[in-house]
Amino acid sequence: MEADRVVIFDTTLRDGEQSPGASLNTAEKVEIAHALELLKVDVIEAGFPITSPDDFEAVNQVSKDLRDTTVCGLARAVEKDIVAAAEALEPARKPRIHVFLATSAIHREHKLHKAKSEIIRLAVEGVTLAKSFVEDVEFSPEDASRTEPDFLAEVVAAVVDAGATTVNIPDTVGYAVPEPFAELIRYLLENVGNIGKTIISVHCHNDLGLAVPNSLAAVKAGARQVECTINGLGERAGNAALEEIVMTLKTRCDYFGARTGVVTNRLVPTSRLVSALTGLTVQRNKAIVGENAFAHEAGIHQDGMLKERTTYEIMNPEDVGAKATTLVLGKHSGRHALRARLEEMGFTFASEQLDDLFIRFKALADKKKEVYDEDLAAMMEELLAAAPDLFELVSFQISSGNELVPTATVRIRMQESGEVQCDAATGDGPVDAIYNCISRITGIEATLLEYRIRAVTVGRDAQGEVTLRVVSDGVTANGRAVSTDILEASTLAYVRAINRIAAGSHKGGSATS
Ligand code: KIV
Ligand code: ZN
Repeated sequence: MEADRVVIFDTTLRDGEQSPGASLNTAEKVEIAHALELLKVDVIEAGFPITSPDDFEAVNQVSKDLRDTTVCGLARAVEKDIVAAAEALEPARKPRIHVFLATSAIHREHKLHKAKSEIIRLAVEGVTLAKSFVEDVEFSPEDASRTEPDFLAEVVAAVVDAGATTVNIPDTVGYAVPEPFAELIRYLLENVGNIGKTIISVHCHNDLGLAVPNSLAAVKAGARQVECTINGLGERAGNAALEEIVMTLKTRCDYFGARTGVVTNRLVPTSRLVSALTGLTVQRNKAIVGENAFAHEAGIHQDGMLKERTTYEIMNPEDVGAKATTLVLGKHSGRHALRARLEEMGFTFASEQLDDLFIRFKALADKKKEVYDEDLAAMMEELLAAAPDLFELVSFQISSGNELVPTATVRIRMQESGEVQCDAATGDGPVDAIYNCISRITGIEATLLEYRIRAVTVGRDAQGEVTLRVVSDGVTANGRAVSTDILEASTLAYVRAINRIAAGSHKGGSATS
């Protein structure tokens, strides 16, 4: 590989999916993996196969589907994890196993209860076993940024000898600051004799808001792989945001002298897709992909822009795929236009699905004059939402007013018996009345942990998006729905979450940081 090339290792589907509130089913993960392949990231970490059958299936399905991108599965330095990762990755054209083991004194003493020599032995055994399945093996000394540098150098040398083709230096708890972190990378490059046989990678968490600066400082010091996620998703405060890393390296190539292979005009569409499917909205002023990233409000700035764009813009919006929202489709548009637009947005679907999509699109176009990309993304998300439901909303009716007790009547089809059950309930407001009524019918009492509503597009006929999180008997589930009627979106999102509770397909705790 050329010396200035930085490998982009995307971990949206693994560390990103560990974001509190994010949860993706296999179909959604595969959809995102296709978008990441179009974006031309180099490696996709698709999951942690040992942790659940869902994670195994996702890594396996992504491995079957992708053509050019390396697909990676995570494993602790434990035999059963490595075997599960190898099995899940079996169909991949370019498989990578990523083995990790903590090395810092804090983790050695309090978590692992192991001496330094044992850590080295386990790391080497893990890499050796992974190497018996695949050629491409990555090793991560977890909590590397808090590990004694001389011991870290010893671990790195040992795993490189065992065949690790990439050694990742994680700032697991987001403790690092740029200059000392860069110093650590330089120390390894200068003090590990066999370092030339491997690629040094970094994986920075954002607890102090420094994930991107730390990663970039490491690149300046010689790291040649960055692990990052779309929209900066990830455990706790998240990981380094891929879009920020890529655009900084591109915009300030003069300083970093390094480049990636990312197709930058796919950044905004990919960000929108990930946001729609995880239900985690991107703040308006988020760098690169936020709605305001290229909006100029101040008169002086607008005047400057009209005279010469570069007075106030350091990047071209088109370079990141942030074209002014185009009005794409309406009720007279045909199948061909729909397919072309969806494909342009990065969605992939089987030809048989087009009929169903077209019916949904027509229903939407009947309600709304203008159908925007965001509307289409929301429609696709509905299609990809989790599998067979136990409860199906048939209808709801609400009476509410400033002098009325809000009362809801809801009819729900019980999928197992086909029976439609109807009930009524009151509440503090119309949404509360609907949710009380659904609980009576389904018998599932759930507490609302989070409820958010936002307009997906502009105008009075905009679609409203409701994202919510509920908990019932210790099981949490997300629900999301979109409709031009916000009470319908609220109802559908709740029914979806209740279905996930019923199916037990919730997001449980995460196994790593
Ligand atoms: O943050 C971390 O240390 C991780 C490792 C598994 C790389 O996510
Ligand atoms: Zn991490």
